[in-house]
Amino acid sequence: MNQKTLVLAGSLFLAVLVVAGVTLWAASGGDEGGLQASASGELALASESAQAQAWEEGDPLEMTVYMSPTCGCCGAWVEHMEEHGFEVEVRHREDMFGANEYFGIPRPLASCHTALINGFLMEGHVPAEDVRAFLAEAPEGARGLTVPAMPVGSPGMEMGGQVDPYDVLVMHEDGRTTVFSSHP
Ligand code: CU
Ligand code: CU
Repeated sequence: MNQKTLVLAGSLFLAVLVVAGVTLWAASGGDEGGLQASASGELALASESAQAQAWEEGDPLEMTVYMSPTCGCCGAWVEHMEEHGFEVEVRHREDMFGANEYFGIPRPLASCHTALINGFLMEGHVPAEDVRAFLAEAPEGARGLTVPAMPVGSPGMEMGGQVDPYDVLVMHEDGRTTVFSSHP
């Protein structure tokens, strides 16, 4: 090999390394990965729930939503929340099962996206009116609300006029659930 060939081979090798690095970074969810951010405390559940606080009329309704970038019904739910006065910051991640595990939401209570607001969890297609009512109440010992799975007719899950009856559940710190509201 002459020197020119060596230099060429060297820069090719570097280019491959850079491409591989960027691909890996993108596959891990980039800087919006959520769970990677736990080291910096961004997702730290302990500090989130420590901040749990009631919402009062006039307070901002700022919510962070963890969802897959390819989840259509999640996007529709985000729109529903925005239409009802919520400011939503979306963080995309591929692995929602990992997020559920991180937030300690058991599989039977889980849905397609997880939101955090005022230190409370909002799992799945919870109607905006229930989120507001819950935040105003901020019941002691409650971790948040969930609509398990994805009932047809819940906000973001509209399909024609079909509505499958569903309950919005309170997730309590001791693992119990209670019914917060029933729809329709
Ligand atoms: Cu969904
Ligand atoms: Cu969703």
